[in-house]
Parts: sequence; C-alpha cells; structure tokens
Amino acid sequence: MYICVCKGVTDGAIREAVNNGAERMRDLKNCLGVTEQCGICACHAKEVLEQARAEKAQLRSPMPQITCLTTEQLEETDYERGCRDYSVA
Ligand code: FES
Repeated sequence: MYICVCKGVTDGAIREAVNNGAERMRDLKNCLGVTEQCGICACHAKEVLEQARAEKAQLRSPMPQITCLTTEQLEETDYERGCRDYSVA
C-alpha cells in the first residue's frame, strides 16, 4: 500500500528501510524521501515505522529457554520443590 504518494513509497519500502537500520522519521525522509513534499503522509508513515520497529524488536527477542529433563532429573526437581512426597511407607 502506498504511504507517500508524492514519492511513491509503500509500507513495504518503509519496513525494508527499518530492517536496514532506519529508526526515525528523519531516517525515512533521508533514505526514501517520505514527507519531503506535501507532508500529508507523515502520520501514516510514522505508524508504519513504529509497527515495523516493534516487529523487528520482537524478532530479535530471545526465544524462551526450553530445558528437557530426564525423568530422574524431573523427579529430583519436584522433590527439591516439595511437589511430591517421596517418603517410603
Ligand atoms: S504524500 Fe508524502 S510528501 Fe506528499
């Protein structure tokens, strides 16, 4: 979708610019020419910029650590937490 009609800038171009390091409206203006003419695109361009930055940050966030335990390790862990009663009858 076109965001800046004057310069023919699409939301995809803005997302690509963000992936290549653009972080501010100033960066979009410098690399794509967004808002250089009539300026009507400023609000929408900023929305796309913020959305793209959020998506980029989300992709960079580390994956949650998943630890696989053996049954014995799991039982040990449960025992340490007091989750199970291991008393011998
Ligand atoms: S629509 Fe972007 S400068 Fe005119």
